[in-house]
Amino acid sequence: MHEKEFNLDEIDEFELDREYQKRVIERERKFFEELKTENEVFDKRTLMILFSLLAGKHIDEFIGVISSGKEAVVFSAKKGRRYRAVKIYRVATCDFKTMHKYIQGDPRFHLRKSSRRQIIHAWVEKEFRNLRRAGEVVNAPKAILRRENVLVMELVGKRGVPAPRLKDVEVDYEKFYEIITRDMKKLYCEAELVHGDLSEYNILVKDDKPVYIDFSQSVVTQHPLSKALLIRDVKNICNFFKRKGVDCDYRELYEYITGEKLHPIDEEIAQL
Ligand SMILES: Nc1ncnc2c1ncn2[C@@H]1O[C@H](COP(=O)(O)OP(=O)(O)OP(=O)(O)O)[C@@H](O)[C@H]1O
Ligand SMILES: [Mg+2]
Repeated sequence: MHEKEFNLDEIDEFELDREYQKRVIERERKFFEELKTENEVFDKRTLMILFSLLAGKHIDEFIGVISSGKEAVVFSAKKGRRYRAVKIYRVATCDFKTMHKYIQGDPRFHLRKSSRRQIIHAWVEKEFRNLRRAGEVVNAPKAILRRENVLVMELVGKRGVPAPRLKDVEVDYEKFYEIITRDMKKLYCEAELVHGDLSEYNILVKDDKPVYIDFSQSVVTQHPLSKALLIRDVKNICNFFKRKGVDCDYRELYEYITGEKLHPIDEEIAQL
């Protein structure tokens, strides 16, 4: 059959619109198939958000699942020649009580009514703002947009392949310890943030440098939980680097970051 020449000048707006819609529907179909093969189940509202990202100008296509955990799924996606990571919180399985506790003490948020969805939205909003704030002083993916339980950020990696976690690669551990501890101090003193879940799982390695991710539970330094979270962070980091043969001590690291001595009573409170 002779195909009609595709001349943009000859098609009217209605036809263009139809072409566009056809492409969007095709992408949606592909995405649905992908979800099914990955055995992912999202509620209707989340699917609508994902479709609205495809229909709008934010994402051209979803590529695949990078990580699928209890609370969130992370997809890789493409927009033009750029790659994105799309983090989707599972509304059904998130730990609301903990989320609420972290949000409540944050002076940036005022949660009066607190349905499950509202808590998740605040959680994503918090992660978005934390990423932006952290990104000013350390390497972190650029936060692009948030919509309800969905966060779109820059994909840390090369040509769509996500960078490995610090846990999964060999690096110069002495050098990394130095960079990471310097970054923790910058986060604390300049961005006034405590990561709160810092470990070899939430640090990616790109171009032989650390890139920090997963700032959802991060808190500002004036938050009532910040001390306990920082103690947990310094312990996690020192445990990891000790195993790699680096001579380090979490109390010294705490003092280096905050300029204050770590009192045994604080450590006890942090364990509660
Ligand atoms: N921007 C990104 N670029 C590349 N990979 C990413 C990005 N964000 C997340 N990932 C990958 O997805 C994984 C899970 O992301 P993240 O840690 O933010 O979610 P999580 O819900 O805390 O998951 P987990 O409970 O497994 O830590 C990360 O370990 C990392 O491998
Ligand atoms: Mg994580």
